[in-house]
Amino acid sequence: MASYDLILRGGTVVLPWGEAATDVAVRAGRIVTLGDLRTDEAAEVIDCAGLHVLPGLIDPHVHLRDPGDPAVETLATGTKGAVLGGLTAVFDMPNTQPSITSAERLDWKRGHIRETAWCDVGMYVGGARSNVGELGALEREPNVCAIKVFAGSSTGDLMIEDDETLERVMRGGGRRIAYHSEDEYRLQARKPMFEAGGPHRLHAEWRDVECAFLGTRRLMALARKTNRPAHILHVSTAEELDYLRDFRDVATVEVLLNHLTQWAPDAYDALGGYAVMNPPIRDKRHYEAAWAAVANGTVDTVGSDHAPHSRAAKERPWPATAAGLTGVQTIVPMMLDHVSAGRLSLARLADLMAAGPARVYGAIGKGRIAAGYDADFTVVDMGKSRVIEPEWLVSPCGWSPFAGTRCQGWPVMTVLRGRAVMREDEVLGEPGGLPVRFEGTRA
Ligand code: DOR
Repeated sequence: MASYDLILRGGTVVLPWGEAATDVAVRAGRIVTLGDLRTDEAAEVIDCAGLHVLPGLIDPHVHLRDPGDPAVETLATGTKGAVLGGLTAVFDMPNTQPSITSAERLDWKRGHIRETAWCDVGMYVGGARSNVGELGALEREPNVCAIKVFAGSSTGDLMIEDDETLERVMRGGGRRIAYHSEDEYRLQARKPMFEAGGPHRLHAEWRDVECAFLGTRRLMALARKTNRPAHILHVSTAEELDYLRDFRDVATVEVLLNHLTQWAPDAYDALGGYAVMNPPIRDKRHYEAAWAAVANGTVDTVGSDHAPHSRAAKERPWPATAAGLTGVQTIVPMMLDHVSAGRLSLARLADLMAAGPARVYGAIGKGRIAAGYDADFTVVDMGKSRVIEPEWLVSPCGWSPFAGTRCQGWPVMTVLRGRAVMREDEVLGEPGGLPVRFEGTRA
């Protein structure tokens, strides 16, 4: 009879090789073994009967705004929302104020994660004109999930839009680069057409399909030319999803929860400025293409692109409306509701939000329930139906495009490296998040 720190007993466990009725044993923060452990002992036994045990789900695309404006979000509040919503790790974007573009700022952020984060955190390092020559070294800094390049403008001052500099970035290192792909020249050329303002749905006309598709065609040409792997973030058009299938030698693909849930014009009619994001929510043809791409395997990861802004900034008349939607706390319940509606399986959800991010970014010890891996679990009750109440949300910005939505399926427990950090709406203990480790980085 073996003795463990923790046994998750009696759940339906989503393993990489399929669902199984099995117990899971944990020691020193890692998974030790799987199987029938009814006669084994542990300091803590969690009864998972009637529940599904998923690998710790990861949101690989969040903007926690730290440093920035604490009235909007911080690492502490964003990661608290993450564990309340069932996530065990987030990968945090660099377009903060100031942005994360140097080893010194990565060092600061690493310390800040250790002090304040509730879940584990991977850090993007920002690609900027000023640090192009250093990116090859910066991508190997500890805990860096990837370089992030904004090839089209969005929130913040990071941008590299021209082919010559993009090629220099690609030739300067080896790890997969994450791209915001919208063609900046087309965005700027079309801007004057919309200066007079108008309804929020014009956002999708300004930043049209060709803005995104052209951006992706240019990036794919350069990625092939330099043989440098790319992760195209928030792919939002049917055209790109179709195109990227022929670039699997260099490209992986992210789709956002928002593009799998909302469409134009309905989202703009219902939410106004609270539907404005980059790349935009588009018409239903693209929503359907996104689900087809989930079904046929084109999509590698799903993220929220949690991008909080103050209410005042969201309520400015378009085109001055700040772009970005919140989602770190709501992505798991919303995706579980999609599972309940039959749009994907729990196994595919685990692939998109655990194995996928771990594979694409090379996260060490994450992404699967298997012996030796971190004991990160998202325990969900598919029988639970619950409304996303505004009072439940912890982000100081105070709004969600999904407030009021009823979800069938809900995360009831979050286990981080063997310790329950959320149970039935309660955050437990002290912040214990650590920086995530990645292959290809210095230890
Ligand atoms: O809508 C967006 N908001 N898209 C981005 O690319 C950036 C983000 C933000 O940081 O606000």
